[in-house]
Parts: sequence; C-alpha cells; structure tokens
Amino acid sequence: MISIRQIQESDIESYHAAVDTICREQRYLALFEAPPLEETRKFVLGNIKDETIQLVAHDGERVVGWCDISRVTHRPIYPHVGTLGMGVLPDLRGKNIGKMLLIEALTRASESGLTRIELVVLGSNETAQALYKKYGFEYEGKKVKSAKFPDRYEDEYLMVRVFDDPSGE
Ligand SMILES: CC(C)(COP(=O)(O)OP(=O)(O)OC[C@H]1O[C@@H](n2cnc3c(N)ncnc32)[C@H](O)[C@@H]1OP(=O)(O)O)[C@@H](O)C(=O)NCCC(=O)NCCS
Repeated sequence: MISIRQIQESDIESYHAAVDTICREQRYLALFEAPPLEETRKFVLGNIKDETIQLVAHDGERVVGWCDISRVTHRPIYPHVGTLGMGVLPDLRGKNIGKMLLIEALTRASESGLTRIELVVLGSNETAQALYKKYGFEYEGKKVKSAKFPDRYEDEYLMVRVFDDPSGE
C-alpha cells in the first residue's frame, strides 16, 4: 500500500537513496549521482520548515518516489511560480505512483497560491512528457542539445501548467 504525504525528517536517508538510484540511471535527471547526504538533509529540513511542497510516495518501508514544487524565490516578480521535479524507483514505474504524486502536488500548489508550475524534461523522456501532458502541462520551448551525457547529447523541453488566478487576473 503506497501512501503519498509531505516528506518527514525520518524519510531523509531513504529519499536520498531513491534520488541516487534514479540519478545513476543517467537517463532522466540532471545529476549522475545524488548530492551528498548532508546536503540533502539540509535541503529537506529547509523544505519542511518553509512548508515547501515536497511529497514522497512511501511503501511502509522506504521512499519509492517523490514530487517537489519549489518556489522561485530569487526575484520578487516570481511569487506565483513553482518548479517541479519528480521520480519513481525503476521497479515501481507504471503503477500510477507518478500520477498520484503529481495530482497531489498540483492540488497543493494551486491551494498555496502558485499559478504557474514549470519544469524541464529531457527530449527522450516520453513517459514523463506523457504524464505531464495528461495533467495540463504544455510545451513552452525547446533547448537544443542542452544536456550532455557520457554517451549522448539531448534536447530539453520546457513545460508549464498555468492555473487561473483566484482573483480573476
Ligand atoms: C515519469 C515518472 C515519474 C512517471 O511515474 P510512473 O509512476 O511510472 O507513472 P504512472 O504509472 O503514474 O503513469 C502515469 C502516466 O505516465 C504515462 N506513462 C507511464 N508509463 C509510460 C510508458 N511506459 N510509456 C509512455 N507513457 C507512460 C502515461 O501517460 C500514464 O498515464 P496512463 O496510465 O493513464 O496512460 C517515472 O516514470 C519516473 O520516475 N521516471 C524517471 C524519472 C523521471 O523521468 N523524472 C521526471 C524528470 S522531468
């Protein structure tokens, strides 16, 4: 039974292991291994404190997936913008976990006043693009040969989901 919930301090090591597994696939994410555990700990504790949306899918023993939406905080003109990232462990893909994570994260983002959710996805990652399209994301641009892996270059797509502003603006 998979539960979807906000990350907790006790999830940090398991979350770090999940991120590391997917980074090491060298097919989907922008890192080839997870950042050091202590850096991840600091990141997660900061997110818990700031109430940043950082959901995990948990199977009762370990984190098997995540979806986070971080606010863009470095410029005052972006208070409505969030950046999305997610992943599900290889052996559990295709079982609706990504869908559950994404629906819950988008619901929370909209409730928290974010009206623009953006992300970057590799050109070859058709599974993720299909998932994003299903939940209202549109293509916004293409970065040609913007990613370099040991064995290949890849294009990246910028995708965005825009919610109506509750004020009607
Ligand atoms: C992308 C990812 C998060 C999707 O999670 P998932 O749990 O495997 O996906 P789900 O089972 O919830 O499927 C959701 C939708 O994704 C799409 N999808 C899933 N598996 C697919 C496949 N093999 N081929 C094409 N589309 C697929 C479908 O649209 C599916 O909806 P449907 O079942 O109603 O048709 C997961 O595959 C993953 O972790 N990939 C590696 C990391 C990654 O790509 N992260 C995102 C970087 S931008």
